[in-house]
Amino acid sequence: MKLAIIYDSKTDNTRQAAAWIAEGMNKVKNVEAKIFHISDIDYTFVNQTKGIVIGSPVYATQMTADMRTWLLNAAMRLNVAGKLGGAFATAQYTHGGAELVIQTILTNEIAFGMLAYSGGASKGLPVIHLGPVGVNGNVEPHNKMENYRDNFVIYGKRFAEKAVELFKD
Ligand SMILES: Cc1cc2nc3c(=O)[nH]c(=O)nc-3n(C[C@H](O)[C@H](O)[C@H](O)COP(=O)(O)O)c2cc1C
Repeated sequence: MKLAIIYDSKTDNTRQAAAWIAEGMNKVKNVEAKIFHISDIDYTFVNQTKGIVIGSPVYATQMTADMRTWLLNAAMRLNVAGKLGGAFATAQYTHGGAELVIQTILTNEIAFGMLAYSGGASKGLPVIHLGPVGVNGNVEPHNKMENYRDNFVIYGKRFAEKAVELFKD
């Protein structure tokens, strides 16, 4: 089963998070997960996927303008209805708005007919209510992306397990 992670990233944090999600997904038997920057997407592969996770840096509490543009153009033309959809974000402040970005991405996915995945509290610790967040060390000295590595990997594995359970291929 093919799964894709599609992200925007200017300074690598969100790309790193995408790679960790793919690492978790690829732990699941028969899953092939790949990551794509919005400017360099293999649409043949993405069309064959059963699930797509979309991630963005937080810009002024919202997704990036480039991600929003991609969602309104390329993503709207993809045949994503019925696929499993997830979302993640990276930020430089613990309270910088990352979950708003995740919620907005999930809402876009639902609007395209995707099935929204969170995992929520159903899997126990770590509880990831909407989607994983990474806070980098740009400003907060106690933070760094590596602190959130395990959450991204676990989320990826959970997402892939749910996709295999739902779509059985
Ligand atoms: C224009 C701009 C606006 C930003 N606004 C926020 C914000 O509202 N909240 C926050 O926590 N971080 C904010 N950041 C920080 C980025 O979200 C953060 O560094 C992110 O990890 C960058 O992702 P990237 O390395 O994948 O590009 C902003 C960064 C830029 C460049």
